[in-house]
Amino acid sequence: MDREAIVSEVGSAMDSEESNEAAILAAMQVLHRRLNCHWAGVYLLRNGELHLGPFVGPPTEHTRIAIGQGVCGTAVAEDANQIVRDVRERSNYLACNLETRSEIVVLVRDEAGSVIGQIDLDGTEVGQFDERHEALLEEIAPLLALRWP
Ligand code: SME
Repeated sequence: MDREAIVSEVGSAMDSEESNEAAILAAMQVLHRRLNCHWAGVYLLRNGELHLGPFVGPPTEHTRIAIGQGVCGTAVAEDANQIVRDVRERSNYLACNLETRSEIVVLVRDEAGSVIGQIDLDGTEVGQFDERHEALLEEIAPLLALRWP
């Protein structure tokens, strides 16, 4: 995985978009393609709840997720990124899609360090995401934060 190339591709894809929504979507398109994701999107933390933001992939019924619920809500509740090797091993997993086997959630923070949402990627392979992906997404998160919708 060429981390630098992906970060720079995400940056230029976002720069060429006017609206914040379009910029985030462009970033998700790059991640979806470069990391071979099944689904790539963001959730926005609003009024103490996660709201589905721009995404690429099949539609999900999980448009609102409570803090503490599922992998996404757990990331916020525990203030910790989540790497799930096999979603079948997580009892609180919220299935968006039956083909999903692995998932990574990396928190997005504002300049003061407060959580404003998260990046969520789903893969069809067990163990598709690891610490290298986490490091990549941690580098991309501040770019997204600047254009957070
Ligand atoms: N699987 C997530 C829900 C979001 S979908 O993957 C898009 C969860 O368990 O929180």
